[in-house]
Amino acid sequence: MRVPLIAGNWKMHLTLTEAAELAAAVARVAEASPDREVLIAPPFTALAAVKAVAGSRLLLAGQNVCWEEKGAFTGEISPLMLREAGCRMALVGHSERRHLFHEDNRMVNRRLRGAMAHGLIPILCIGETLAERDSGRTLETLEKQVREGLDEVELVDPAKLVVAYEPVWAIGTGKTAGPAQAQEAHHFVRRLLAGLYEKNIAAGVRILYGGSVNAANVDEIMAQADVDGALVGGASLSAESFERIIRFN
Ligand code: 13P
Repeated sequence: MRVPLIAGNWKMHLTLTEAAELAAAVARVAEASPDREVLIAPPFTALAAVKAVAGSRLLLAGQNVCWEEKGAFTGEISPLMLREAGCRMALVGHSERRHLFHEDNRMVNRRLRGAMAHGLIPILCIGETLAERDSGRTLETLEKQVREGLDEVELVDPAKLVVAYEPVWAIGTGKTAGPAQAQEAHHFVRRLLAGLYEKNIAAGVRILYGGSVNAANVDEIMAQADVDGALVGGASLSAESFERIIRFN
């Protein structure tokens, strides 16, 4: 019932030429994989070039989104601008935004609600640091991020929200959560959603795993019951490895 979603977060990488080339290659794989959704989040400046080659099956996302439509918000991107550029979704609360740019749950919540208000599907990114995991505070951290991130958010269609569990210690480090660790976190998040929304909504929201997903580990991660997709950084920058991830078994 939950269509798998494989998402590539390009972060601050690639020239326009490289972006268009990679997107064209990924679009071909997406065309050939009708039973799964494929998404990329390129840098804002590459959205137009990527859109031009994306075809109908490669979805686009912003790497972040402002809560306002327009105004004096230097350095931000409007949800309307993302829509106009062809985006269906937007990441909010990515670990790098939280930790390098000090975005807190309240700001993440504003971004998420702004995205939804303008018809963008937010991908709410959550995840514990190594210190939080080591001190036994993983679930507590996730609960706070989910509850505060979704504060005052109504959800009547499970397709209108995606959650991405990305343990901070697994991002860009080559360390991945073991399949059982990922499943535990995902199951916990789904239970939290069931406390906030109708049962069928919680059962329908897709929860992606992110953190050093690659061609070699994607199959065992995707085999977990509550893992509905992957949010991939480094390994989404090569057509070859991202193709293998999209074609997970
Ligand atoms: P890596 O796949 O490079 O660890 O990055 C994960 C991530 O942050 C995706 O948003």
